[in-house]
Amino acid sequence: MSTAPWHDRRILFFGGKGGVGKTTLASAMAMAKARQGERVLVVSTDPAHNLGHLWDETVGAGQVPLTNGVWGTELDPTQIAREHVRAVSRTVRGLMPEHLHKRVDDYFALTLEAPGTHESALVDAMGRLVLEGFEEYDTLVFDTAPTGHTTRLLEMPRLMQMWTDGLLASRDRADRFSDAIRGLDGDRRAPDAVDVRNSRIRHLLEERRTRFIQVQEILGDPVLTGFMVVTLPERLPTLESLALHEQLCALGMGVPAVLINRCSAPDAPQWRIDEEARNIEEITARVDAPVLQIPVLERPMTGLDAVTAMADALQTAMGGR
Ligand SMILES: Nc1ncnc2c1ncn2[C@@H]1O[C@H](COP(=O)(O)OP(=O)(O)OP(=O)(O)O)[C@@H](O)[C@H]1O
Ligand SMILES: [Mg+2]
Repeated sequence: MSTAPWHDRRILFFGGKGGVGKTTLASAMAMAKARQGERVLVVSTDPAHNLGHLWDETVGAGQVPLTNGVWGTELDPTQIAREHVRAVSRTVRGLMPEHLHKRVDDYFALTLEAPGTHESALVDAMGRLVLEGFEEYDTLVFDTAPTGHTTRLLEMPRLMQMWTDGLLASRDRADRFSDAIRGLDGDRRAPDAVDVRNSRIRHLLEERRTRFIQVQEILGDPVLTGFMVVTLPERLPTLESLALHEQLCALGMGVPAVLINRCSAPDAPQWRIDEEARNIEEITARVDAPVLQIPVLERPMTGLDAVTAMADALQTAMGGR
């Protein structure tokens, strides 16, 4: 087995500007890995899913077989947020006295619209997939939404861990306070309903915190996780991919390769060849990762044949690595 930097990663994100070829190349990579005998799950986290469209299959929330060794799933942030909020509100209802249930319902109905709810639900779902997917698949390939959104998503487990830490710390203070009050009274009674509720809340928070830490450990491990930057040999995508590369480095995320997609054939007009060469040169000079050029394919780009052709092109660009 070769040692190319994208080979041993168990999680590969594919990210970049809109329309550069994230979905196509994520699927092509999945097929290339499946050809080596791996079991690969392609996960679409883009609300405007086009994974099913590319493979000409209905994908959706389940894990659907797409070809030998490749499965696909589409995470729908709205649906996930709804289920997530429903589950949390059910738990909170169970912890609250009955006369407050209506208030809990009203509160969570509002939460569904709150900023960040979809993202945190998506991170939760991605986290579960990562932890469960490790049992069943050799590699998880994430086809992500256009740029900004994804880098935020990568920061979320850390932010959410800090948030649960804050909640746990304030619970600690509250517990110490009530212990002190009880001490003053000489009150040594058995734990009451409030104590039981508090310890269940603590348990739930600790469980979430553990999950965020596990996900962070996996995403933050450059041996396990890498982020493939996809771009085009045009000016704006080039600039955007350099900015993305910088953001990923700042986050400590490894970039196994930059994929420059839809490079023109040698018989294209000279001005285009020259412009592409300038962009490719700039990317090569500024990133310290392999820069692979994928040719533009002049063929219909949906269905198994299209993914097969793209996987061939990708493998050629990877130089058999
Ligand atoms: N190498 C290629 N040759 C020819 N067409 C390509 C190539 N790569 C991608 N395409 C086409 O370019 C379009 C965009 O590709 P794709 O859907 O994979 O991009 P994306 O980055 O996932 O887009 P979005 O940001 O909308 O999710 C599609 O129509 C696809 O078929
Ligand atoms: Mg896409």
